[in-house]
Amino acid sequence: MMWHTTRRWGEMTDRRDLWKSGVDTTRPSIARAYDVVLNGKDNFEVDRAFVHEITKVVPEIYDVATYNRQILGRGVRFMVGQGVTQFIDLGSGLPTVENTHQVAQRADPQARVVYVDNDPMVLAHGRALLAENARTAVITSDLRDPAEILAAPDVRRLIDFDRPVGVMLVGVLHHLHDDDDPAGLVRSYMEAVPAGSHLFVTHFCASTQDARDAEKKFLSLLGTGRFRTPEEITAFFDGFDLVEPGVVPLPLWRPEEQVPADLTVGQRLMFGGIARKH
Ligand SMILES: C[S@@+](CC[C@H](N)C(=O)[O-])C[C@H]1O[C@@H](n2cnc3c(N)ncnc32)[C@H](O)[C@@H]1O
Repeated sequence: MMWHTTRRWGEMTDRRDLWKSGVDTTRPSIARAYDVVLNGKDNFEVDRAFVHEITKVVPEIYDVATYNRQILGRGVRFMVGQGVTQFIDLGSGLPTVENTHQVAQRADPQARVVYVDNDPMVLAHGRALLAENARTAVITSDLRDPAEILAAPDVRRLIDFDRPVGVMLVGVLHHLHDDDDPAGLVRSYMEAVPAGSHLFVTHFCASTQDARDAEKKFLSLLGTGRFRTPEEITAFFDGFDLVEPGVVPLPLWRPEEQVPADLTVGQRLMFGGIARKH
């Protein structure tokens, strides 16, 4: 599977066509802003302007995205090592380097992945993926509707609910407000999967004043965002067996390289962890 063989939106359509596809180029989108901080090309001026505002509060925001992608890789490799070879990646984002299926299928070529995102641009790129990788699918859905997602034909086709599943909510629950009942949503997904399944969450963490300032910017510019405390993030794993080292700043979760003793603001901006269902 070669993501870079897909054509860019800018090459294949003009702005009127984007509108028709549900892509709003007048407001920043979470998926496209994340693409900006990962140095991708699938974004617009409005997304870059949003990221520029964020860099005024958290100059390290590009590094934060890298820490998040790095733990995504470590987490998927860990889960495959535990015998988990099928994944539902909720809030998967635009294709970038080292996507879940690439990491998982390198460890086990039979691994299956369903990507779920509510941004229409993710599906546009996902169509190329569908054509090129029979064990991977992309669906456009809102993760706040677990019943719809769990019943989706691609999910039923690729995921065997009698075998452990990796439920991934990497870098996405902080886009949900408390009214959305993120903990209830986590429970709905985890109830649908058998013992041995794993839950993988990373989340913006309100552990410093800089983080709280960044949260305000996210809210004012993106209209969505709720940074949570380490305790609130840990509570998503209630009822499951957290694997070592628990819920920690991303660079500290099973690092593969030496990590400095004093973490920067950016290194502490997101926390994450993985737990196993018993
Ligand atoms: C910051 S990106 C994270 C991408 C990827 N999981 C990662 O960590 O590298 C968050 C993604 O979640 C998606 N998202 C936000 N709210 C969502 C929702 N309610 N349902 C589905 N996807 C959502 C956004 O469109 C975006 O692509």
